[in-house]
Parts: sequence; structure tokens; C-alpha cells
Amino acid sequence: MDIIKSPEEMQRLALFLKRSGKTIGFVPTMGFLHEGHLSLMRAARGRCDLLVTSIFVNPTQFGPNEDLAAYPRDFERDEALCEGEGVDIVFYPEPASMYAADASVWVDEQALSGGLCGAARPGHFRGVCTVVAKLFNLVQPDLAVFGEKDAQQLRIIERMVRDLNFPVQIVRGPIVREPDGLAMSSRNKYLTSLQRQNALCLRQALDHAADLLEQGVSDVAVLRKGIATLIARVPEAEIDYIAFVDDASLAPVDAVEGSTLVALAVKFGSTRLIDNAVLVP
Ligand code: PAF
Repeated sequence: MDIIKSPEEMQRLALFLKRSGKTIGFVPTMGFLHEGHLSLMRAARGRCDLLVTSIFVNPTQFGPNEDLAAYPRDFERDEALCEGEGVDIVFYPEPASMYAADASVWVDEQALSGGLCGAARPGHFRGVCTVVAKLFNLVQPDLAVFGEKDAQQLRIIERMVRDLNFPVQIVRGPIVREPDGLAMSSRNKYLTSLQRQNALCLRQALDHAADLLEQGVSDVAVLRKGIATLIARVPEAEIDYIAFVDDASLAPVDAVEGSTLVALAVKFGSTRLIDNAVLVP
């Protein structure tokens, strides 16, 4: 397994590999890998000749009051996990090599980015789109795998690829959960054991919405109240948003009549967790 730090070297090698007829699968990450990331690597592995993973805590997707400095990092552990998954190249650049001090060009998706996490994190998806576009130019992937847990991010990247004609196939990787149902996230490590227990309400709330829908409740006001009541009973759980949106356009819906994304963001202390499910009537 090669570790490449220089963006220029990464791009030179990727172009050489492409000219040699190799297909490249790509899993971009911010490191501190968990089973969710590894499942994305496995999804890419079988579909291409070479597997590239990037580990880059992207500064431009963090707001001024967010946890950039505190974001968990453990490169040695990540390296061993990548090795175990048969990753061929780990791209591990420094922020200064990725962004010129006077960088002034951004990729700004403007239809899907405003709501859900975008409302609470202005500029976040501009940072995500910009870094993913740069990574695509450096790694030259044929396909890239993104997790369904970040449902809004996934849809925005799909839109970016469509609208900017990136020759990259985007593959959706299903949410990976702990045995008790908590969606895997690098942020779970910030939870106290009590918060970790309380955080199970995310999955329970999504299941509750699915149960209500099965019982014939499709009115979003009723579904939202059911979820909010369940979460309100949980100590320390502070709802950031409960959203019911059209699965493709991410526009809010009043009733679950077509494929609907129910997305939650809930804070436990200072840790904000997200989870989601797609409801189909
Ligand atoms: O999902 C993530 O970990 C990040 O947003 C990504 C896609 C690696 C871009 O920095």
C-alpha cells in the first residue's frame, strides 16, 4: 500500500494508471475510520482494479465555531485499517498543499444545500463540494462510494457530478449500524456512556415513523409530533431538526406520498448526531 502526500504526485500517478487501462475506485474520508468507512471500501474494491482512499480533514467544510481542531485523528490506526481492506493508495495531503493561501474558486451547489444540515452549517456543503471536486481531479476515479448516513451530502455530490459532468459513477453505501442500532460515526467517540445510550433514540424515532406510516399515518405534522415526543422523553437530547423531505429534491413535504427522506439531527451535550431513513408509502 502506498501513502501519497503530494497532490501533484497523486494526480501524476492516477493519470498514469488511467492511461495504463486501470479503473480506479475511490472512497474519500476524513479519517478516524470505522466499520462504516470500511464497508464503503469493500463496496468499491470489487468494482475496480485499484482502490484509493483519501484521509483529509477538510478545513473548508468546518464553520468558525465547529470542531476542526478537535476532530479525531489517528493516522496509524487508519493506515492499518486501510491495509487490512486491501487499499492500494492512501492519499493523505496536508491542508496547505490542498488549498493555496489565496484560493478563490468554490463549487457551490444551490438547490439541495440550504436545508437540513446546510441550514445549521452555512458554507459546509460549499466546502464539501469544493474538496470532493478537487479530490476527483487528483484521484481520477471511475467510481466513488459515499455513505447513505450523510444523505444530504450524497445527493449534493450526485447533483454536482451530474451538473459538472464529472466522469465518475457515484455508488451509494448503506448506513452501517452498531448492533444496538446506533449509526456509526466518528463523532460517536465524543459521547459519554449515558449519552451513547440516549443516542439510541435516533434509530428508535426513525422506526417509530416507519411504524406510524405502516399504520396509515402519512400526515407529516402527526409523524413529526410522534418523533419529537419520543425524543423529548430522552434526557439531554436536544432536537436540531426533524425533516421530512422529498427524497430527490430535498423539498419539505406535508405528507408521505412518494419516496420521502426522514432526516434527524439531535444534539447530546455538544455532540450533534444525524441519522435518516427513506420512507416509501
Ligand atoms: O463525508 C466525509 O467524510 C466528508 O464530507 C468528505 C466527503 C470526505 C469530504 O471532506
